[in-house]
Amino acid sequence: MFENLQPASADAILGLIAEHKNDKRPQKVDLGVGVFRTAAGETPVLDVVKTAEQRLVDTQQSKAYIGTAGDPDFNAAMQELTFADSCDTARLFTIQAPGGSGSLRVAASLILRARADASVWVSEPTWANHIPLLGGAGLTLKPYPYYDTEKHVIRIEQMLDTLRHAPAGDLVLLHACCHNPSGLDPSEDDWRAIADVIVERDLVPFIDMAYQGFATSLASDAFAVRHMAGRVPEMIVSNSCSKNFGLYRDRVGSLSVLAADTGARDTVYSQVNNVVRTIYSVPPDHGAVVVSLILNDPELKAAWRLELAAMRGRLREMRVLFNDALIEKAPDHDFSHLVRAVGMFCFLGVTPEQVARLKQEFGVYMVDSSRINIAGITANNVNYLADSIAAVL
Ligand code: LMR
Repeated sequence: MFENLQPASADAILGLIAEHKNDKRPQKVDLGVGVFRTAAGETPVLDVVKTAEQRLVDTQQSKAYIGTAGDPDFNAAMQELTFADSCDTARLFTIQAPGGSGSLRVAASLILRARADASVWVSEPTWANHIPLLGGAGLTLKPYPYYDTEKHVIRIEQMLDTLRHAPAGDLVLLHACCHNPSGLDPSEDDWRAIADVIVERDLVPFIDMAYQGFATSLASDAFAVRHMAGRVPEMIVSNSCSKNFGLYRDRVGSLSVLAADTGARDTVYSQVNNVVRTIYSVPPDHGAVVVSLILNDPELKAAWRLELAAMRGRLREMRVLFNDALIEKAPDHDFSHLVRAVGMFCFLGVTPEQVARLKQEFGVYMVDSSRINIAGITANNVNYLADSIAAVL
């Protein structure tokens, strides 16, 4: 049967990891996949994670199966981190999931079971894997305008206008903060206007929160989730702990669902657990217990907040440094959107041909759309990077 298959194309983001690794040029720069890096270009295990892992090794009694919903202490802590006191928790539940992607995949099956004919509106552009992941699960996706590639601003009026014409009952996929790929988030007033349209049109917010703590703070990065949770009858939130806990390969995330009332909540909860059983049975445990140990211990939580703030601060610093270097090396071009964006990503704003030249001639790797991971920039490579970009402009 396998003779019927053609090779699949390399993933637009993950494919860059191998390409960069195989490049022998010492001056190569990786601005591809979204992982945090230190000033030394490393992605170390957070200190607080090491501490919690040691505690786990010392105290864990069993590795018997946990249930489909995962660890209750983890779920309670993630729910608090995400929603605080923004809504009636009797209408809400949170389950553990294998990373943000696993959470999105479970959500997709839930949506199909609940309302198979609904469309999910996604930002244009959105995370490159949203479309194959959710579309591949069987959902119908439709785009709403989001990013103006000329002016490097959010197209908020066009976005609102498109959503005003969406059929009642459709879902709107929103990035809670650090929009991937543009790095540009709606302001709090914009979020209020988005929520108004969602309520008026009877739409369901489906929020992907993969970068809580990477934009401004844990609380303000959750503004969209908490504001909507206080206003809508139903919503879905997918969280990832890959970035803010640096637990990329351990696959830690959660899925929260807010339902219209407690009875509906219980029904949806049983359906979600049934979905989990039919996909991966039970979630992986290790990383989630580590997160639970951190979030449920005031001392470890405080230490985590400091490490998270340091990651956030480094990203901000690199944005300023990079923009300054480009002002010097490419004075005829405006890259000021680099410092208006937040989190790990933004578009450099060059053509696919220029992206290809940067890779071939200079060993500078980024996604074809010119999305760059700011964490790949260091004080040591920033001038080389700016020179390379100036050479292809
Ligand atoms: C990214 O956007 O680079 C990250 O979220 C990693 C991934 O899985 O694509």
